[in-house]
Amino acid sequence: ADRGPLTGQRILVTAGPTHEPIDPVRYIANRSSGKQGFAIAGALARLGAEVTLVAGPVTLPTPPGVTRIDVETAREMAAAVEQALPADAAIMVAAVADWHVDATAIKIKKQPGAAPPTLALVQNPDILAGLSRSAKRPRLVIGFAAETNDVIAHARAKLAAKGCDWIVANDVSGPTGQSVMGGDANSVHLVTAQGVEDWPHLPKQAVAERLAQRIAASLAQSLLE
Ligand code: C5P
Repeated sequence: ADRGPLTGQRILVTAGPTHEPIDPVRYIANRSSGKQGFAIAGALARLGAEVTLVAGPVTLPTPPGVTRIDVETAREMAAAVEQALPADAAIMVAAVADWHVDATAIKIKKQPGAAPPTLALVQNPDILAGLSRSAKRPRLVIGFAAETNDVIAHARAKLAAKGCDWIVANDVSGPTGQSVMGGDANSVHLVTAQGVEDWPHLPKQAVAERLAQRIAASLAQSLLE
């Protein structure tokens, strides 16, 4: 991997879900397995990149040659991303919680006869949008989008809203979509300012390898500009 096309390039990847505590023993989570992001981190490292993987709570092994930073909450993930800069490219694959709970420091107790507690939610930072607009913006910033309908239109809107260069959109509707979160295969569309590419249904490893090759080509090109 030492002589790979990404030798000398620093690449940041986020992956997995976040856990947002409700109290010291409970949390809000989502179904992200981290598999796609971990596969991308591994594929980039095999091409020679210096990869920092900021991972939410998952049980996956760290891909060879990858520096892993484990975090739990969206706010911890945002801080770890900031710490990992500067980078030549960032691929934000994590399923970051949109909100955290305005949490109490002590366990919520059932009170006989009392009304159930209500959870007050506070918006989390948008790590991808923040990075895209930061002074330390990597040359190539890539976001992911999981959509159930109007996948391409939503991905195009997301590209603009987040200020990133590419969106990798996956269709998580219907029978195949149910297997995307946690499954081993993925159907994605690569949405850029240049247009949309529909990739075939592929194992997540193959999506990762293809994306890593595209990233290598793009970074090589941007060095010439
Ligand atoms: O807005 P939405 O969650 O659909 O956007 C998904 C993309 O934005 C993913 O790349 C995800 O990693 C990133 N994201 C983020 N921080 C958030 C929410 C989403 O980096 N708080």
